[in-house]
Amino acid sequence: MSELRETVREHYAAMARTVIGEAGSDGCCTPVDAEAVALYDLSTRGEVPEEALLASLGCGNPTAVAELREGETVLDLGSGGGIDVLLSARRVGASGEAIGLDMTDEMLELARANAAKAGARNVRFLKGYMEDIPLPDAAVDVVISNCVINLSVDKPRVFVEMFRVLRPGGRLGIADIVAADELSMADRAERGSYAGCIAGALSFAEYREGLEAAGFEGVDLEPTHEAAEGIFGTIVRATKPS
Ligand SMILES: C[S@@+](CC[C@H](N)C(=O)[O-])C[C@H]1O[C@@H](n2cnc3c(N)ncnc32)[C@H](O)[C@@H]1O
Repeated sequence: MSELRETVREHYAAMARTVIGEAGSDGCCTPVDAEAVALYDLSTRGEVPEEALLASLGCGNPTAVAELREGETVLDLGSGGGIDVLLSARRVGASGEAIGLDMTDEMLELARANAAKAGARNVRFLKGYMEDIPLPDAAVDVVISNCVINLSVDKPRVFVEMFRVLRPGGRLGIADIVAADELSMADRAERGSYAGCIAGALSFAEYREGLEAAGFEGVDLEPTHEAAEGIFGTIVRATKPS
């Protein structure tokens, strides 16, 4: 289990180094990922430094989904180069805060450099695992995440942790990769690698059941585009009961 997580960490460390300019990457998605950048509309792209945009490895725009408001505290799980943290910081304003969480040192370094370049003051980046979020209970209004939960080796634990750190009435705005219900784990693995965000994807039913088991209500999964045969970029919404 931790071996798989280490493979994921090494994959994204190499991605970050490519953006920082230190080394090449042999990964299946590339940091200068035109498809990922295209998920943000033109006006949104102008809001962040180019380096943050180039480091984008997501499969949607969770900041648009989460309808962020002035003064809110937002947590981005697997914040990578920081694009969604920086966009969130602008949405919640000086009275709010955007927090990024990532397990990969190289990604945290990149995100902090991007935040400095953007002059963002209401942001912080934490090192840690989304399976064990280093924040107290009921600390945030919104949890966002962009193409990361599929990478977890313990997804039920991630759902429990998201529920724990959200305040009552708090919400999820997630972009993720989700598999058609009829695809077996072997079918998913045939369509792409684990570190490349495909093999570890939950099915729609598994995602819904996992969130509901953790206590979420109003779970909604909306496929937006097909990433591989029967595998979809998907927007996930849910709320913690108040
Ligand atoms: C596909 S990239 C997405 C990055 C960013 N969300 C974006 O849209 O550009 C996945 C990121 O999640 C991080 N990650 C993967 N598994 C993690 C875990 N269990 N805990 C914390 N971070 C994790 C990786 O280090 C990497 O930065």
